[in-house]
Amino acid sequence: MASRILGRHQATHAAKAPESDEDSWIEVAGLQKVYRPRRSEPTHALSDIDFTIRRGEFVSIVGPSGCGKTTLLKILAGLIPKTEGTVRVANRDVTGPLPEVGMVFQAATLLPWRTILQNVMVPVQVQRLNVREYRTRAEELLRMVGLETFADKYPHELSGGMQQRAGICRALVHNPAVLLMDEPFGALDAMTREYMNVELLRIWRESGQTIVFVTHSISEAVFLSDRVIVLSPRPGRIAEIVDIDLGRPRDLGMVSSDAAGVHVKRIREHFSAIGAIE
Ligand SMILES: Nc1ncnc2c1ncn2[C@@H]1O[C@H](COP(=O)(O)OP(=O)(O)O)[C@@H](O)[C@H]1O
Ligand SMILES: [Mg+2]
Repeated sequence: MASRILGRHQATHAAKAPESDEDSWIEVAGLQKVYRPRRSEPTHALSDIDFTIRRGEFVSIVGPSGCGKTTLLKILAGLIPKTEGTVRVANRDVTGPLPEVGMVFQAATLLPWRTILQNVMVPVQVQRLNVREYRTRAEELLRMVGLETFADKYPHELSGGMQQRAGICRALVHNPAVLLMDEPFGALDAMTREYMNVELLRIWRESGQTIVFVTHSISEAVFLSDRVIVLSPRPGRIAEIVDIDLGRPRDLGMVSSDAAGVHVKRIREHFSAIGAIE
C-alpha cells in the first residue's frame, strides 16, 4: 500500500537505533498512576507496571473493566501524566504526545464540522506533512475500510461503526511508528470486526509498526498478538504476560484452532474467579 512512505520512515529510524533500543522500543518500569480528583477520593488505577515491547511487536492488553487499560494507553500516548515510574516510547521519555505515536480511541472522536476525509487528514495537517502525498494514502485507507464513498460526508451522516473505522484511518494516515489502539473494534458487528482484524494484521506486516492493542476479547487478543499482557482488577497490575507462539501470517481459521484455544483458556483462567470479561 503506502510502502514507499513507510520505507523512508523506517529507514531513518532504523539507521539510528542500535539493537538494544529496538528490544525496548517501548519501556515501562515501576509505573504507578493515582488519579486525584479535586472533589472526590483518589483512585489507584495502575500499580507496579513493568514491561518492554520490541520494535515491530504486536502486544495486546486485556483485563477487566476499570483495571486501568485506557489509563495505561493514555500515559503511553503522553495524554495524561504518570504518577511515578519510567515511561519511554521510541527511545524517548514520554512527557507529552510524540509525533511517532498514533492513537485510536474507544469512541471515534471525529470533528463534526469536518468531512470524513478532512478528519482523516488531521494528523497530516498538525504535523505539516505533504498534503497531496498523504491525501492519496487517506483515500486508500478509506477504501480499505469500505468508506470510499463517504469521504465527503460529515460524521453525523455515518453510523457509529463507520465513524470508528474513519478514526482508525486517521490514526494510520501519517504512518506512526507506534500505534496505540483502545478497544478499536468494540462497536463493530462481528463480521466487520473479523475483517478489520485481518486488515490490521496486513497493515502491521507491511508497515513494521509497533502496536499496543487494548481489547475486551481474549480470543481477539490471542489471534492478533505476539504477546498478551494480562492485567488484574484495579489497581491494574500485571498478572501474566503470555507468549502467543502461533505462526504468521495468521488467518481466521486459527481463531478456533486448538493451539489458540490453549492460550485463550490460560488467559481466561485469570478472570474466571472474579467473573470478569467475555
Ligand atoms: N480522569 C479520571 N479521574 C479519576 N478517575 C479516573 C479517571 N479516569 C479513569 N479513572 C478511574 O481509573 C480506573 C481505571 O480506568 P480506565 O483506565 O478507564 O479503565 P479501563 O480502560 O481498564 O476500563 C477506574 O476506576 C476509573 O474510574
Ligand atoms: Mg477503557
